[in-house]
Amino acid sequence: MDSRGQGGARGAVGSARWSPAERVRAMGTSVFTEMTELARSTGAVNLGQGVPELDSPAALLEDVARAVLAGSNQYPPAVGAPALREAVAAHQLRRYGLDYRPQGEVLVTTGATEALAATLLALCDPGDEVIAFDPCYDAYAADARLAGARLVGVPLALDGDAFVLDADALRAAVTPRTRVLLLNTPHNPTGKVFTADELEAVAAVCRDHALIAVTDEVYEHLVYDDGARHLPLAALPGMRERTLVISSAGKTFNVTGWKIGWVCGPAALVGAVGAAKQFLTYASGTPYQEALARALGSVEEWAAGLRSTLRRNRDLLGEGLAQAGLRPFHADAGYFVQADVRPWGHGDGVRFCRELPARAGVVAIPTAAFYVGADAPTWLVRFSFCKREDSLRTAVKQLVAAAP
Ligand SMILES: Cc1ncc(COP(=O)(O)O)c(C=O)c1O
Repeated sequence: MDSRGQGGARGAVGSARWSPAERVRAMGTSVFTEMTELARSTGAVNLGQGVPELDSPAALLEDVARAVLAGSNQYPPAVGAPALREAVAAHQLRRYGLDYRPQGEVLVTTGATEALAATLLALCDPGDEVIAFDPCYDAYAADARLAGARLVGVPLALDGDAFVLDADALRAAVTPRTRVLLLNTPHNPTGKVFTADELEAVAAVCRDHALIAVTDEVYEHLVYDDGARHLPLAALPGMRERTLVISSAGKTFNVTGWKIGWVCGPAALVGAVGAAKQFLTYASGTPYQEALARALGSVEEWAAGLRSTLRRNRDLLGEGLAQAGLRPFHADAGYFVQADVRPWGHGDGVRFCRELPARAGVVAIPTAAFYVGADAPTWLVRFSFCKREDSLRTAVKQLVAAAP
């Protein structure tokens, strides 16, 4: 009998017998793939995936075209184009007072996605545990698994329509096997921005238990409300030396297809991530890296305009969901609004999302898909607002028409 048991799909390639390796077996078709396919096959407005329909800076696009035509088409250094590493270091210093050396403390990656994977491969041994807050971005559990580690989800507590840190639950989740605390702020899927007090509580746990912190800050420029401000965990006392900061250009410039991200941190940690990264992609996107180096220098000007578009979109969608009789939660940041679908007589967000394309011509994602642990509010659904205004208006009109 196959030593891998009967769980995985089997196939034959010539005379070879095979089944998927243990580490990928649980990574079958996700609800994201299912909903994207539903959007394609039904022609529904896709408010599922966070793929922006918004413009990118014209000068950035022209810069990339120029770089391609000028011959910047071969491998950049594995650690990233020097100009981009310098621009990232300058950005961290200018915005957050975090001082990184472009040589050794900044690593360019193939999106935040590769940064996350390479980081967990670099930091975790088999049997280790990584803590993240539930709900969380779906790559975290998969990356931990690829590293032989296990993602432990600590649920954010629901306080009205706000997701808040439960510091006691966080402390209780730490074990002798915990290596990494993975913090995403601003947060996908909730739109939460961790407050200064919450960050201090997270930092205290990292310091007390000698944990490495990994922060996913890809929505750092997309905070909409005056009351909320993005603060990197690394800027708190005693945290720079134990934190790897991950971000990327995708959300900031509406260039998610370019897959240019970066990691900043102490040289020893960044070096370990680079060791894994060199055998994943080695390097990527030379012309994009060169153009983004210039764009990052004046990102504040661009991001102010993008924020006002996204803030308008958020309000349009939120008001539309309320008009349709769903109960939208407030999002301070990011691309997504959560809505309680119980007013439509549904306690099951998965079923709601499977039925929604036929019922209202709209695709959304059940929030339960973002939970690692068992405590998911099954009645929450995530709608994306990084879309053109006409897409959102169409979706709202159809939702209102389909309301019970
Ligand atoms: C929280 C979070 N982290 C990371 C990523 C991936 O970023 P990138 O496109 O730069 O790989 C995303 C993309 O949706 C995200 O939402």
